[in-house]
Amino acid sequence: MAEAEVAAFRRSVLRFAAAGTGLRDLPWRRTRDAWRVLVSETMLQQTQVSRVLGPYRAFLERFGDPAACAAASPGEVVRAWTGLGYNRRALNLHRAAVACTERHGGRVPGELEALRSLPGVGPYTARAVLAFAFEADVGVVDTNVARVLARALAGRPLRPAEAQDLADRLVPRGRSWLHNQAMLDLGARYCTARSPACDGCPVRRRCRWAAADGVPPDPATGSAGTSRPQSRFDGSDRQGRGRLVAALRKGPVAAAGLAATTGWPDDHGRARRVADGLVAEGLARWSGERTLVLP
Ligand code: ADE
Repeated sequence: MAEAEVAAFRRSVLRFAAAGTGLRDLPWRRTRDAWRVLVSETMLQQTQVSRVLGPYRAFLERFGDPAACAAASPGEVVRAWTGLGYNRRALNLHRAAVACTERHGGRVPGELEALRSLPGVGPYTARAVLAFAFEADVGVVDTNVARVLARALAGRPLRPAEAQDLADRLVPRGRSWLHNQAMLDLGARYCTARSPACDGCPVRRRCRWAAADGVPPDPATGSAGTSRPQSRFDGSDRQGRGRLVAALRKGPVAAAGLAATTGWPDDHGRARRVADGLVAEGLARWSGERTLVLP
């Protein structure tokens, strides 16, 4: 893509970010502490902003740094994950805290490779920590940003390396924090998956897809990093797992009670498989042979 086009888009994004109506005021935008940023970005991976606000505050009151988190049992961290879902993230965050205390002097590291080697930290989260805590010049590509890149800049679906390269190229040197937060907001507030709000969009003049009047196919469909529709939750294993973890937060669950707890009273086999899955992942453990507890 031509440099002039990239530069014009970059200016447009910064203008949006700098305007009074620009970025949302969110608690994780008031800190540069790498642990706080890691916690927020881990929570935000699969959970909406509105659902993260409360648990974010409570979690950090309890676990203000990696050492405090590492000193707790995994079960305590899973308990603090109430309301967020995808509980494996809590377990990984605990493991990451342990790694930070054992290998990085109690700090969240500021290098891409070291971040990527932390449990649960993928390309997105690693770069989010680099940009939002260390203000490094890297492009952050989550599902929201991936849509903006494909629709507005490329006007076509992108391969993973293309999306990351384009995101990196777009970053204004030294202003990575502001730029990346603005890209997240553009994607979350205007360039939404199903009904993009092109009319009010601050970068509409620089958008290739808008220039083509939004004719199908949507360039974001199948483009790198964009999300596919989630599979049905009702009746899924994930639903049963969620119920079981919710019960374990309150106390032990007897093996005989697994079927009722998961919501499958007539399918003890399925309930048992889900329980064994939690144990295999480290989200639960057997205490004796007949009682399931948080680890
Ligand atoms: N989603 C992922 N990261 C975010 C952030 N830093 N602010 C708002 N929404 C986000």
